[in-house]
Amino acid sequence: MKIAVLTSGGDSPGMNAAIRAEVRQGINERCRIIGFVAGFRGLTDNEAIEFTSPAVSEIIDRGGTILRTSRFPEFLSVETRQKAIANLKNRDIESLIIIGGEGSMKGAHALNEMGFKAIGIPASIDNDVFGTKFAIGFDTALNTVIDMLKKLRDTASSHERIFVIEVMGRESGQIAVYAGLAGGADYICMPDTPVTDDTQLKRIYELVEERYQKGKTHTLIVVAEGAGPSYKVSEAIENKTGREVRLSVLGHVQRGGSPSALDRILASQLGSSAVKLAVAGVADVMVGMVEGAISDIPLSEVCTKKVVVDPALSELAHVLS
Ligand code: F6P
Repeated sequence: MKIAVLTSGGDSPGMNAAIRAEVRQGINERCRIIGFVAGFRGLTDNEAIEFTSPAVSEIIDRGGTILRTSRFPEFLSVETRQKAIANLKNRDIESLIIIGGEGSMKGAHALNEMGFKAIGIPASIDNDVFGTKFAIGFDTALNTVIDMLKKLRDTASSHERIFVIEVMGRESGQIAVYAGLAGGADYICMPDTPVTDDTQLKRIYELVEERYQKGKTHTLIVVAEGAGPSYKVSEAIENKTGREVRLSVLGHVQRGGSPSALDRILASQLGSSAVKLAVAGVADVMVGMVEGAISDIPLSEVCTKKVVVDPALSELAHVLS
């Protein structure tokens, strides 16, 4: 049996570990594994390579994706997908495994709806894919962010400054809340409340003043990218409190780096499980981690439901700050 794999959307640490697992599990199952380069774009342009077992040696610890990736909105068009399916069929490929985020899962589901078997593996530092507790790359990104928070706290304390730290998550507050909690942030701005919301700003001003009264030498405010322009909250705090504020936008550094142990393990389990399902003829599902176990969930559900950030986590971060 021939199985294809591709990585799509924003890269995330652990994608290579998932590719390695698919190739090695596939070879164990006597399959041939084809990799399409640069995501759905390469699938449409028919750019592919055939994997051997040595080709995935020494990649378990590498960030990024050896297959490269792309954002390819053209895949929303039926004609583009027809071209992609024709490429798959011409190569006698029976199943396609797509490693990526929310948008990539929609691409996987659309292929199934057009009659081609595809399986999804969630990989996104934003951790906003429904149907899995954790997506590949999230844990590594969290570790990167908490490392940055620690460093920023050192300089913030030395200068008695307030730091506004913008973390990734265009539509999701998962990095903000988990990293905020793990890194001891004093306040977290989530995407569901605009960064300049009056009630929120008032809460922040009060917090800053309370902290100074208590003799604290720093305040760290984590802002999820999707909450709005972080410079606005930074300016508002400086204008209102008259205290020194610095803004730090962490940006794409959060997407890079060697995957954590947890991401390597998750990627290995999901990669292997996806191949076993493909061999068994299963399609239109995403493999994920649910209640501590690896399982699969229909892509129709993944594509129509949203991940909700646990409000208790956010509240806990505020209480403990
Ligand atoms: O991968 C998801 C994400 O990290 C978002 O949080 C962020 O807004 C976006 O990617 C940035 O994407 P790009 O690198 O395409 O600008």
